[in-house]
Amino acid sequence: MHVAVIGTGYVGLVSGAGMADFGLRVICVDKDAGKIKALQRGRIPFYEPGLEELVHKNVKAGRLTFTTDLKEAVRQALTVFICVGTPSAPDGSADLSQIREVALSLAEVLDDYKVVVTKSTVPVGTNRWLKHLIDQHKKNNVAVDIISNPEFLREGSAVEDFMHPDRVVIGGESAYAIAIVKDIYRPLYLAETPFIITDLETAEMIKYASNAFLATKVSFINEIANLCERMGADVTVVARAMGLDPRIGRKFLNPGPGFGGSCFPKDVKALIHQGRKSGYPLRLLEAVLEVNERQKYRAVEKTEELCGALKGKVIAVLGLSFKPDTSDVREAPSLLVVPELVKRGAKVRVYDPVAMEEFKRWLPQLKVEYAKTPLEAAQGAHALVLLTEWNEFRFLELQKLREIMAEPNLVDMRNIYEPEVVKRLGFRYTGVGRS
Ligand SMILES: NC(=O)c1ccc[n+]([C@@H]2O[C@H](COP(=O)([O-])OP(=O)(O)OC[C@H]3O[C@@H](n4cnc5c(N)ncnc54)[C@H](O)[C@@H]3O)[C@@H](O)[C@H]2O)c1
Repeated sequence: MHVAVIGTGYVGLVSGAGMADFGLRVICVDKDAGKIKALQRGRIPFYEPGLEELVHKNVKAGRLTFTTDLKEAVRQALTVFICVGTPSAPDGSADLSQIREVALSLAEVLDDYKVVVTKSTVPVGTNRWLKHLIDQHKKNNVAVDIISNPEFLREGSAVEDFMHPDRVVIGGESAYAIAIVKDIYRPLYLAETPFIITDLETAEMIKYASNAFLATKVSFINEIANLCERMGADVTVVARAMGLDPRIGRKFLNPGPGFGGSCFPKDVKALIHQGRKSGYPLRLLEAVLEVNERQKYRAVEKTEELCGALKGKVIAVLGLSFKPDTSDVREAPSLLVVPELVKRGAKVRVYDPVAMEEFKRWLPQLKVEYAKTPLEAAQGAHALVLLTEWNEFRFLELQKLREIMAEPNLVDMRNIYEPEVVKRLGFRYTGVGRS
């Protein structure tokens, strides 16, 4: 079976390479000619563990190709996956302009029956609207079925998540189209991955409800952490004990500098918008976002608590990506924390193993120094602020770090250090929710 994937970003490239690895012939399309040219030359446009190998292997096997020619890709395919972006519009709703553009392009080129599968995260009702849009504008009188197949991969473990998902959700109205998409995922079906077959609206809602719930867990534990600090409790122990209850679960109960990334903030905002539009304001999720925004300032406040006024102080920031093992900085706490430190007069030196270029691209005017190593960032610093828990930060030479810093202040926004150990080494330490 031939598959076309439109939008070769995180989701499109991982899904395209993953489906090629299932044995399908996949053509990935993007309108960004630079990206396609780079991919044709074997260069992966972002950092994602295991992706380069997967892409190279399937390109070599002749199952995976890249093009900017949407018409040709669609002509060859029975199934067309839409993986374009759905960023936040200024009012918080999902901006569907990329989806609309793809729908109109498809309407232009469809010349035979196709199954159009939406992997992009889209508000409830979008797939029905998409079908209407294609039907309304199609040049040829051909049938189209629409399937909602939301993607749950996580950046940093995207390949593993795609190849071994917790579940596959397929929403649609045509039993034939559902069977075709199920067939694409046959290797997972055989591995007993749970399949949820449902209608379009339910499939769309599953994705938003899942992300909103995880974001709620993060904001919940951040609130408990802030309260622990005031009341003399240790949130790391609280979270561990809570998580042992299977009704609660351990995951996403790590306090930190607030959630970021390309999904949680925008998806929570979009769901809030859908609630408002439907006459059912989602108070809980409004609070989740408010708590998260406030949490991002905690790193700055904690730095001031240890260092005093920041004017003229040198602050080292370790970790810029929104989480480890990715170069993605979209909505990362670093995008707020670093400018805020600069605004308060600090001289900031940053280090991240892979995300510094991306950070620079997002904040090109920001006056900060980019260090080549964590120790270079920390040289002469009055405080070291850890924002992302990259593994290499867990194994820093703390004794050396202590010696090269002007003042031994450590703001550990991911609780990766043992307070007793670092205090013994002479650091003044603050974590999140540890009294
Ligand atoms: N990134 C994640 O971890 C993740 C996980 C699950 C779901 N999602 C959802 O998947 C969707 C895509 O996210 P992403 O992070 O992969 O986005 P991305 O920005 O990395 O990639 C989108 C790609 O689509 C391309 N594009 C836009 N319009 C196009 C068009 N008309 N024709 C061809 N290409 C076009 C862009 O050039 C870009 O390369 C979003 O809806 C997102 O919410 C993302």
